[in-house]
Amino acid sequence: MKNLFILLSLGLSSAAALAGSAFTDAEDAVSYRQHSFQLIRHNFVDLGDMMRGKIPFDAKRAEKRVNALATLTTLPWEAFEVPGADKVKSDAKAEIWQDLKDFKQKAEQFQTDALALQTAAKSGDQATIKPAFANFAKNCKACHDQYKAD
Ligand code: HEC
Repeated sequence: MKNLFILLSLGLSSAAALAGSAFTDAEDAVSYRQHSFQLIRHNFVDLGDMMRGKIPFDAKRAEKRVNALATLTTLPWEAFEVPGADKVKSDAKAEIWQDLKDFKQKAEQFQTDALALQTAAKSGDQATIKPAFANFAKNCKACHDQYKAD
């Protein structure tokens, strides 16, 4: 009961107003996907710095990053498909909804490459992780060029 009061006082009681989703409304969905991408960026950049030798390679830290990426890369996509998610002003281009199949295919490839990166990172060997990271990194530009406004 106490927890319920806390939730109510936080204004969270009306969560998930969009049927079958985790979002209160389309703006909430846009916020979710943008924050997901930011978390992807944080983990991606740290790993990238390691791969380029900007910071020393640390197998444990690399594994933490790729484990996060394996999950994070699954997150943004549902937030493109809730009602009104295409109408809110954001950097997502209208082309996404004109060819949702292609967009989702790119998202699938991204997740597949994240899992391959995760497998490579289990080796704890930088030389093994490097090509898997490069392959993973290609996805960002491939999708942004087509579907994200600068
Ligand atoms: C399948 C498509 C796709 C892939 C792959 C992808 N992105 Fe994005 N990204 C987008 C779209 C679309 C947006 C715009 C989202 C919006 O504004 O609602 C975006 C937005 C972002 C943003 C800005 C978020 C904000 O706060 O507005 C960052 C940062 C980002 N992506 C980083 C990355 C990185 C790093 C990678 C690769 C490791 C990546 N993205 C891979 C489609 C993609």
